[in-house]
Amino acid sequence: MTLATRQPDSAPHGGEIELINIVKTYDGAVAVDDLSLHIESGEFYSLLGPSGCGKTTTLRCLAGFEIPDSGQVWLDGRDITALPPHRRSVNTVFQSYALFPFLDVADNVAFGLKYHRVSRAEIRQRVSEALALVRLNGYERRRPGELSGGQQQRVALARALVLRPSVLLLDEPLGALDAKLRRVLQVELKALQEQLGVTFVYVTHDQEEALTMSDRIAVMSHGRVQQIGTPRTVYEEPTNAYVADFLGISNLMPATVTEPGSDHSPCRVALGDFALAARCGETAATGAVKLAVRPERVALHPFGTDGPNHIPGMIERIVFLGSANQVFLTLAPGVTIQALIGNASDLTAWSQGTPVSAELPAESLRVLPEYGESLSPAPSTGGSASEPRATGGREFRPSLYEEIR
Ligand SMILES: Nc1ncnc2c1ncn2[C@@H]1O[C@H](COP(=O)(O)OP(=O)(O)OP(=O)(O)O)[C@@H](O)[C@H]1O
Ligand SMILES: [Mg+2]
Repeated sequence: MTLATRQPDSAPHGGEIELINIVKTYDGAVAVDDLSLHIESGEFYSLLGPSGCGKTTTLRCLAGFEIPDSGQVWLDGRDITALPPHRRSVNTVFQSYALFPFLDVADNVAFGLKYHRVSRAEIRQRVSEALALVRLNGYERRRPGELSGGQQQRVALARALVLRPSVLLLDEPLGALDAKLRRVLQVELKALQEQLGVTFVYVTHDQEEALTMSDRIAVMSHGRVQQIGTPRTVYEEPTNAYVADFLGISNLMPATVTEPGSDHSPCRVALGDFALAARCGETAATGAVKLAVRPERVALHPFGTDGPNHIPGMIERIVFLGSANQVFLTLAPGVTIQALIGNASDLTAWSQGTPVSAELPAESLRVLPEYGESLSPAPSTGGSASEPRATGGREFRPSLYEEIR
């Protein structure tokens, strides 16, 4: 079905977004580079990427604060590219709460409604509902200066929700809060989004935040989308080394494919002078690649132990983490990797300088292109529309290793 013929959304809240080939430049410098996204009604969708990768600019194009140089923004089957912000059913919550310091909480929340020709009685009713949603009843007469950071952020949220938008844009809304409060509000925000069914487009550079809250994530760099997928997909099956690295898979090793694999056989890869088999990722690739393996998948054996995908190495450092040990080791080809070894293993015989045999299992060894484009003829990076919606994303938690990074 083409966009022009798409029927109005039948979902109760609407809020289905299509960004089509958005390009935005500032004085010739490209901030958003041919970006296309399809966000479903009621989805919690995160834009994740480092500083300067174009997250805020994308959000501003969606909100109407920026007009893209080219490309289109569609909302519920309507082309809204040229509509001014106040004519879109889209509201934004910024990192800086931007509350009026001289107005109390109730008046801050009611502020936007004054431009919507709403009766006084209805304003009172809706403000009270919005404050109940963010659990701030009883704070109506306080000024922002008399609230904690988390409470101020909730007021900003209530102010956006009181207008009943079909899409809420959140630009690093928890960025100014301490780590503990962030975690509490992450859970609250996710619960609120599920309760309301409003589409959330959430900008963050914090991978843990994106992984724990989102239905789907678009990982961005340099104004482009590198991969779109559920938290589990982008974490477990990154399509290139950039995504693997950004999501915290730090064991990335330069290697060369010596024999491409097929559906039935793994590919053969040279890591220095050592031959390995790899069964994950782009096993049909040829030439220079990156090999990725998660620290919890690396097994350590006594030096001299032989077997498939075993490489000698030497321990550099062991860090006790409580429930596990983080072991840094240098492999014979010269690369340093990490292994996460559970406390059931007795590591007392090992210390700096102990030689070991490291096993990088073929089932856990992923072949990745360096960066950007996929090596395969059929790239899997841009398939937003065909990516299944997350069902279990919210239960997903990064491993211990990720949380302590
Ligand atoms: N108004 C502007 N004028 C000129 N350049 C801009 C403007 N806004 C953004 N840029 C540039 O566009 C690029 C993308 O900026 P953007 O604010 O979208 O990044 P971001 O991903 O939100 O980063 P951060 O995580 O630091 O907020 C950056 O190189 C930035 O310097
Ligand atoms: Mg930004």
